[in-house]
Amino acid sequence: TNKATTVKLLDMKREKRNIVMLTAYDYPTARVAEEGGVDMILVGDSLGMVVLGYDSTLPVTVDDMIHHTKAVTRGAKETMIVTDLPFLSYHISTPEAVRNAGRLIQEGFADAVKLEGGREVIEQVRAIVRAGIPVVGHLGLQPQMVNQLGGYKVQGKDFAGAQRILEDAKLLEEAGCFALVLECVPTKLAQLISESLSIPTIGIGAGDGCDGQVLVIHDMLGITDRYLPKFAKKYAELNVAMTDSVRAYAGEVRDGVFPGPEHGFKMSDEVLQKVKE
Ligand code: KIV
Ligand code: NA
Repeated sequence: TNKATTVKLLDMKREKRNIVMLTAYDYPTARVAEEGGVDMILVGDSLGMVVLGYDSTLPVTVDDMIHHTKAVTRGAKETMIVTDLPFLSYHISTPEAVRNAGRLIQEGFADAVKLEGGREVIEQVRAIVRAGIPVVGHLGLQPQMVNQLGGYKVQGKDFAGAQRILEDAKLLEEAGCFALVLECVPTKLAQLISESLSIPTIGIGAGDGCDGQVLVIHDMLGITDRYLPKFAKKYAELNVAMTDSVRAYAGEVRDGVFPGPEHGFKMSDEVLQKVKE
């Protein structure tokens, strides 16, 4: 199979072939991502916002992630699937982090897990990797920290912030992460980090100097009426097509246009006659 592995992704970085990652949250989005030919699927905890309608990713639970990951893995059997460890599922203790990562693999059938943070989660990363579970890091804007950050903002623009992100990136590589997501950091910082690591970086709002890119599928397909950050390029406006279609259906039912004879099933007059008697 063509399914990506941690080793193949390292090769892609060395060969300067950009890695394509996209989120998926259920069977149909997983089918689309796989048929569209992405290298990796992320079952992001962004599902809390784009499919469950929460204001942030904080309410998302491990059970939510397992539920969605199961649907995605059924829809994309030939694609590497990474699932997010949600808020508070890896902070309380290292054994709990390993247990929760293990559940995403054993119950959700994910291939790898992703978690946010740097120096403060290094011990958890090491322990999860020791258990045989591949780990993706996530630095820059960490949406699970939104209440501490005071909003979704670019990270690492000042010296202290930039230095901290670069140091954390090196620590995560050393701890055994096989890839690193960089969210909302200046292009030049992301490029410097990418050049400083041997594992691939995957950027979102982090410019073209990363080894790969990731987008949220609902954002790039325009299946959403939510405010989009400037890095979320829209390749379609499916919400318009979807709303227009529903409006057309509603109008046709009300006007008696749908269903037409071609949408119904026939029976013989003879049987009908007997039923009437
Ligand atoms: O949850 C998510 O979709 C993510 C990506 C934005 C990287 O973490
Ligand atoms: Na996430």
